[in-house]
Amino acid sequence: MQQQIVKQHPRLGTEVLPGCNLTQLTNQQIQEFKQSLWENGVIVVRNQHLTASQLKEFTDKTFGDLGFKYLPKPLDPDIDPDLQSYGVSILGNPKENTQEIIGQFAWQWHHDKDFLPRTEGLDMNSLYVVMLYGVEIPAQGVDGQPHTTEFLDMVEAYNNFDPEYRQQLEQMSMYHLPPRTYQPGPDVPMKKHPIVSTHKVTGQRGLYLGSDTSIPVGMEDELDLAKQFWRELFQRILEHTPVYAHVWQPGDLVVWDNSQVMHAGIPYDASKYKRVALRVAAVDKT
Ligand SMILES: [Fe+2]
Repeated sequence: MQQQIVKQHPRLGTEVLPGCNLTQLTNQQIQEFKQSLWENGVIVVRNQHLTASQLKEFTDKTFGDLGFKYLPKPLDPDIDPDLQSYGVSILGNPKENTQEIIGQFAWQWHHDKDFLPRTEGLDMNSLYVVMLYGVEIPAQGVDGQPHTTEFLDMVEAYNNFDPEYRQQLEQMSMYHLPPRTYQPGPDVPMKKHPIVSTHKVTGQRGLYLGSDTSIPVGMEDELDLAKQFWRELFQRILEHTPVYAHVWQPGDLVVWDNSQVMHAGIPYDASKYKRVALRVAAVDKT
């Protein structure tokens, strides 16, 4: 069955704070921003002009410190210094002299939380937020359509299942691994999470699936079966729940709550187009 892709969604992609400058928000505007994020799952602030440092400052002011440290990297001389900051990743193909795409693994459905190391005090239900800021946007994806990032509302997905199936899923948990990593080990911790989880702020129930590397508890020795289970469950979601596609404009800041949405990047041709996006993550301690 063909999945339904929509450009408008009742919750996901809600525009907030029109006309604002994110470097100059009042505390009240920051509270509105966060409240809207928990209520909508994905929010968009348009027409921003941010450096990587300004994006990081806004993130820290809004959500607080991430709680664990990345090692600072030296500045890359081939990339504009305004796009570089401690704690901010650059996605896409930001260098003129290479077609290598950073973040290509994100072209599959996942929650970003599974990349996190296992962290003291950070449970799997935490409010892990990711912000993606569009600096340069490819004119189109490989499908010839405008460049988008796709999202699935996992609260809606849960509610769209019949009560009997929901009850069945409520009994189950999965181990989560980062996308594309199939073999757990010392560097790839398995993190256990119930398939149905309750949002920390809104109390809404939703599905938390990780990516197709997730292993249902009890299937640890049957990885083929685990993958089949995940794919069938995900297919069932796509049959009942529309995919929201955010169409990018330069200057968009797209913010999502990994506790309640999944997302997938859309491939583009790096030999024809440049893409530069800044990514920063935070855990809200609300
Ligand atoms: Fe991602």
